[in-house]
Amino acid sequence: MPDVSDLVGRLTREEKLSLVRGARDPEGTATGYLPGVERVGVPEFRMVDGPLGVRIPEQRATAFPAALALAATFDPSLAGEQGAATAREARALGQDALLAPGMNLVRVPHCGRNFEYFSEDPLLSARFAAATVEGIQSEGVVATAKHFVANNQESGRTTVSAEVDERTLRELYLPSFEAAVDAGVGSVMTAYNRVNGTHTSDHRWLLRDVLKGEWGFEGYVVSDWHGIETTVGAANAGLDVEMPGVPMTEVVDAVEMADLNFDSERLDGVPDGRKAGLFGEPLAEAIDAGEVPPERLDDMVRRVLGQLARFGHLDGVGERERDSVHRSVVDSPEHRELAERAAAQAMVLLENDGLLPLPEDADVAVIGPNVDEAKLGGGGSAETTPFRSVSPAEGLTARAGGEVTVLRGAPRIPHRSLFDRLPLGDDSTPREWETGEAQGRNGGTDQGDDAVESDRPSLDDAVEAAREADAAVVFVRDATTEGRDRDDLRLPGEQDELVESVAAANENTAVVVRSGGPVELPWRQKVSAVLQAWYPGQADGEAVASVLYGDRDPGGRLPITFAPEGSYPTADERRYPGVDDRAHYEEGVFVGYRHFDAADAEPTYPFGYGRSYATFDYGDAEATGERSVRVTVENVSERDGREVVQAYVRPPTAPGDVERPVRELAGFESVEIPAGESRAVDLDLDELAFSRYDPEAGWTVDPGTYVVEVGRSSRDARSTVELRR
Ligand code: BGC
Repeated sequence: MPDVSDLVGRLTREEKLSLVRGARDPEGTATGYLPGVERVGVPEFRMVDGPLGVRIPEQRATAFPAALALAATFDPSLAGEQGAATAREARALGQDALLAPGMNLVRVPHCGRNFEYFSEDPLLSARFAAATVEGIQSEGVVATAKHFVANNQESGRTTVSAEVDERTLRELYLPSFEAAVDAGVGSVMTAYNRVNGTHTSDHRWLLRDVLKGEWGFEGYVVSDWHGIETTVGAANAGLDVEMPGVPMTEVVDAVEMADLNFDSERLDGVPDGRKAGLFGEPLAEAIDAGEVPPERLDDMVRRVLGQLARFGHLDGVGERERDSVHRSVVDSPEHRELAERAAAQAMVLLENDGLLPLPEDADVAVIGPNVDEAKLGGGGSAETTPFRSVSPAEGLTARAGGEVTVLRGAPRIPHRSLFDRLPLGDDSTPREWETGEAQGRNGGTDQGDDAVESDRPSLDDAVEAAREADAAVVFVRDATTEGRDRDDLRLPGEQDELVESVAAANENTAVVVRSGGPVELPWRQKVSAVLQAWYPGQADGEAVASVLYGDRDPGGRLPITFAPEGSYPTADERRYPGVDDRAHYEEGVFVGYRHFDAADAEPTYPFGYGRSYATFDYGDAEATGERSVRVTVENVSERDGREVVQAYVRPPTAPGDVERPVRELAGFESVEIPAGESRAVDLDLDELAFSRYDPEAGWTVDPGTYVVEVGRSSRDARSTVELRR
């Protein structure tokens, strides 16, 4: 491996500056591009979106299930597989770094990007973040942990300040990033927002003290796209690379700026050419003026070159491994299979009165406004255009033994995207936006045959078809996107009415929900089954059919709480979306199930919940160490099944007036258990669940008795065991 310090010493200042600020990619494939320095053998470097699959304009790649779906598997090994597969495709498409994974905590149920994130729980998020990073980097591609930190809403995303205390940051919002650093992540992306008044790319405490200091992060910190505000502040705080480096006015027009949710006024007063050029000439000037030490520029360059060296990019221009990787890895049978397996394992069975698995020979009415489209993902930088996708109609038709009738029954729910062309001005309300042309940045989403039914689908026809069938399956969905939060948690359009009408016509009605976060399901007691499928990606219909017909057990459990909109801890304007551009995280550590437990409130479906087609009996849990337990789980049914065994720690009362959550997820394991068999499941309990962060004393484990609840969800303990600390 070349000596990076030596290399830095051989670079001119001009060359150094070219390695810390993005430029236009002559190939036009990269999301972010560094030109390299050919003179000394530093090659070009390409960074590409995103977390659900590679996003390159005019290129296709596998559309994997959303990150939130992955986390629902409670099986981080799948995240490792998906990360590795995405990285193989990125490399085959000439890219060197992935702008993934996203790992912000799901704090606000309305957040338009929840589908890109893992969970409301820091441990679940951390485990998936680490596994994804390891998977991506195992293929020689740099992973990017984003968005550092407290980027929990899209409303006012470039201006809002998360007002959050240190304990809350440490216990909830930072752990997934620390886990990514521990897993060796090569890059961290700052967030668009501020934290306690300071923009994240100017935030010394976050970047210099915590990330690089305490955690010992040695990679490079990259800005979010156009997400840098100052030259001197960012350079001295610890930002290493500015992206995309190309002035905003050159890459986006005014309409797109509105889409991107940029506060254009923020750019007023910023001299032309610097609107996204703060690490170019201005950095040179700041160094000359003595405002940024020259060693800082060397450090930035060393960090970038360090990652290039680590992943073999400095071993000879033109001879890089990527050149020998054949394009056929993209859309390989292995990647298709993985996309389908992960999507199926992520599905959470919320309700089932016995209708599912569907009988082989049942005549089925397959209904839904978008029944002819796979739900690939949400809108924005995580959009991927796949080579192939399977719609619910196609998937069910291919799998069913009986007759299948397909009807939409309600007007289509358009895909919403950050990249849609919006009407200008303040009257571009979400409703108008929803009816706009769906147009992905990759040139449309190409989701199948529009000709299932006319544009004015008839509810009566759908109801009639449901009445005549043995069973009805209704597919509903939301339409979330980067850049906008949801207005409410209801399903958009006429979907609730559609479900009610179909359920009234056929008592064997199952509903498949494809959503990027929690949704309200007002009819859930009136239907026979509800299957939560998230955003399944290209394999949608195929994966859903395999679970509906019982080829696979629904292996997913909720990584987020489902509850009525008004009962979330952020149902208060000060907290969300905030007032005067400040979102007050006054709920502290009581986010997600921590809130519902503390409030003793009944959620609709609790964190960790999900049914199986099999039935499991739990034995008595026993302690096997200071932080480990074992429990034997028996599948007492006649079906093979998949169980997610979960352990939650209930801490003793903390001293003084420190309030702690009732319980915290401490360990979990997804296990397949054949019919009639038992498995001894060992759970290592994470120190995070035992500890609390004391701003004075640091991480603290209070002495006392910790009750470990072992069971099927955060509200379904089957056995408890006490551990003394
Ligand atoms: C998003 C990032 C993304 C970047 C590049 C930004 O708008 O916040 O997640 O990686 O764009 O597309």
